[in-house]
Amino acid sequence: MIYTRIIGTGSYLPAQVVTNEDLSKRIDTSDEWIFSRTGIKQRHVAAEDELTSDLALKASTRALEAAGLTASDIDLIVVATTTPDMIFPSTACILQAKLGASNGAAFDVQAVCSGFVYAMATADALMRTGTYRRALVVGAEIYSRILNWEDRTTCVLFGDGAGAVILERSDRPGILSTHLHADGSHRDILSVPGSIRNGQVCGSPFLTMDGNTVFKLAVKVLGEVVDEALAQHGIERSQLDWLIPHQANIRIIQATARRLGMSMDKVVVTVDQHANTSAASIPLALDLAMRDGRIQPGHLVLMQGVGGGFTWGAVLVRI
Ligand code: UT7
Repeated sequence: MIYTRIIGTGSYLPAQVVTNEDLSKRIDTSDEWIFSRTGIKQRHVAAEDELTSDLALKASTRALEAAGLTASDIDLIVVATTTPDMIFPSTACILQAKLGASNGAAFDVQAVCSGFVYAMATADALMRTGTYRRALVVGAEIYSRILNWEDRTTCVLFGDGAGAVILERSDRPGILSTHLHADGSHRDILSVPGSIRNGQVCGSPFLTMDGNTVFKLAVKVLGEVVDEALAQHGIERSQLDWLIPHQANIRIIQATARRLGMSMDKVVVTVDQHANTSAASIPLALDLAMRDGRIQPGHLVLMQGVGGGFTWGAVLVRI
């Protein structure tokens, strides 16, 4: 059997930190409201001259270093982003150029906050059935540019950042399975509805969300996808070493942990420090827990994402 294994991770957060107190000076909100409803204390915000590909480049360089590789060793680049540098070319192609690489394929995946899970599933499938040997899989976002900073119901929730993973073909797992889902009938509950037509932005270029509906749906589908992933392998919930959920709201994360009967000690949480970085949230959390030694070789890790589309999914991986 051919599998893919994670052989290096990296991440990057922009230097500027915006705390809840900072926001409460600009809009009608408070640290108490934001923290009690979401678990968020602060978020990182990209500098004016930083692009999504710049964040991706820094995370990728760190992942390559961790894997002991250079960019020329990579023959597949998949970038998950909802905030690309431009309409085209893809952020993956821009990243490839910035890395100084020219091998193989590079493309973006757009599945909003589930993007990293979709990107891992895509890279895993291409490597198992194709000729690619080493993939760079990235989640990178600059949500601060698609937020209406006067809309307190959304702008307090998101942040910017990037995380990256190097996947290598192997004869032992690695990624045990991936589970992707979508239900486009819920496309309106979380969207940036604007589009470009005849040189004009038509519709709103800002993120809109029916937070309550997203919350309820997220708790439901995240619970279901955990059961699906574990059932496929006959794995008991107690055998999971780590849960790395998408970091949108601590209350959603706690609800999933409760359903799994998992102590919060086994859940990687970054939402307090990073807020919701969409496709970047899972690889950012993974990199943090790999580097601080919580996640060890041999550990069984479940990553799970959920977001606009509506999309959701999971990756079950042996480190
Ligand atoms: O990445 C995946 C996508 N995102 C998510 O998973 C997010 C899912 N949803 C959520 O996390 C939560 O629904 C929110 C955090 C967005 C909202 O929490 P909530 O407990 O559902 O609050 P709410 O929307 O019911 O709002 C309660 C009140 C409202 O006031 P009224 O109408 O009761 O007077 C809001 O206007 O809180 C008010 N409010 C705020 N107050 C202070 C909304 N935003 C703020 C704010 N500061 N930033």
